[in-house]
Order: sequence, then structure tokens, then C-alpha cells
Amino acid sequence: VADGRIRLCGTDEVDQGGMLRVEPPGMDPVLLCRTADGFHAVDDECTHAIASLSEGRLEGTTVFCPLHGGSFDICTGKARSLPCKQALRTWAVAVDGDGVWLLAKKKRA
Ligand code: FES
Repeated sequence: VADGRIRLCGTDEVDQGGMLRVEPPGMDPVLLCRTADGFHAVDDECTHAIASLSEGRLEGTTVFCPLHGGSFDICTGKARSLPCKQALRTWAVAVDGDGVWLLAKKKRA
């Protein structure tokens, strides 16, 4: 990506309180969440086993895995409840015009 960012979706494609799984080219699937304070992106795949968090549910800033019910903080990526222990990677996103963009750098390791 020439300018180091990838368009994930339009701002109107995710409602507040909603989530969207996006598969950016060359990257693992990303879970884009929209909360009261804006958009957050983390890995979509649960770190416990193989499950798409997009099929779980979002409550505030906590996403619950559909498979075993573990949870993560979507702002920090940290596991919030067992059986999840390992954090999700978090990704920086920005709104520009009518789009939500992933800045192709990890916020933190
Ligand atoms: Fe997500 Fe087990 S796969 S909690």
C-alpha cells in the first residue's frame, strides 16, 4: 500500500455498537469495532483457539468470543476473561472522508 494505509470500509458500514470482519490483502483478518468513542481494530481471530470474534458479541469495549465465551478489551487488545489469556494485536485506524482506514502499523506489539 503506497501511503501505508488500507481502506477497511465506509463509515456508514458499521453501526455504533457493531463489528465488521475485514480481510485486508496480505494481512490476517481484522475486527473493526465501532463504539461510542469511535473505531477500534484488533485481530479477528481469538487467541485461545480458532474462532472469528466477529461472530461473537460486543458489549461496550469488550468483545466476547462465540466459541468459549472468553473476552478481550478492544482498545488495548488485552484478554479480559478466561479462557483467553494472550492479547490480540491492536491496529491503528483513522477516519478520513467517508472511509475508515487501517494504518498499516501495529499500535503496539
Ligand atoms: Fe475464543 Fe476459545 S476460541 S474463547
